[in-house]
Amino acid sequence: MPDATELTEEVLRAYAGTPDPRLRELVTALIRHLHAFAAETGLTHEEWLAGLDFLTAVGHTCDDQRQEFVLLSDVLGLSAQVDHVNAAAGATEPTVLGPFYRPGAPRREAGAHIGRPGDGAATLIRGRVTGTSAEPIAGASLDVWQCAANGLYDTQDPEQPAFNLRGIFSTGADGGYEFRTVRPVSYPIPVDGPVGALLRAAGRHNWRASHVHAIVSAPGYQAVTTHIFDAANEYLRSDAVFGVRDSLVQEFRPASPGDPADVSFVVDADFVLAPAMPRT
Ligand code: BEZ
Ligand code: FE
Repeated sequence: MPDATELTEEVLRAYAGTPDPRLRELVTALIRHLHAFAAETGLTHEEWLAGLDFLTAVGHTCDDQRQEFVLLSDVLGLSAQVDHVNAAAGATEPTVLGPFYRPGAPRREAGAHIGRPGDGAATLIRGRVTGTSAEPIAGASLDVWQCAANGLYDTQDPEQPAFNLRGIFSTGADGGYEFRTVRPVSYPIPVDGPVGALLRAAGRHNWRASHVHAIVSAPGYQAVTTHIFDAANEYLRSDAVFGVRDSLVQEFRPASPGDPADVSFVVDADFVLAPAMPRT
């Protein structure tokens, strides 16, 4: 019988002939890390089976409305790590998409409110979208969404109309955009499944730092999926899904006499897009 190192080498040899080079790279790296994990921790049979039971439960919790594997990836920081690995140099940092994105939001006029007055404290968010050489990007799209003051997205809350607190805005000739929304609040990620059991076992809370989501895109540029975080939020250092980047944290400044009279807070948030990658 081969020893542990010989076994790893034998398994790697069995996959060395995988024709697709990228699949070969991914599968063999995964094998090396999984074998090293078992060896480093002295993984017992009971623990290995408990791990498989856990992953089985994660799978059973998934349906067409819920993706517990994505949530697991989120709370293990893997989603955030994939964002780091794929961040474009000089561009706005990406962060998690999350499960509450809904395609097909209405396109709205510059400055429009994406929600209703009762959804929270009225906030003006405005800024510019530029390229990495500071060139203004006219006609960029900002697809934005967030939860209401009760911590619920429209898809979770029968009291909210469809596409409440969602909208798509375009930038003007100078790359400028603006929209009205409400000041976001912290909200808990779902903990009624196996991921919740993991968080409880780890003694971790399940709160997300308050944020507005944005997907910023423009022809000829790489789209970025990102957030605007509220600098005053208490969960910035312990976000349940490790989504906070210092560069994405913005001040929600109380409106002053020079600001539009209908808002309580003003946020200045610029976005930078990297050029699209040449097709290979
Ligand atoms: C969200 O921000 O919508 C989100 C992200 C990851 C997990 C749960 C929610
Ligand atoms: Fe969110």
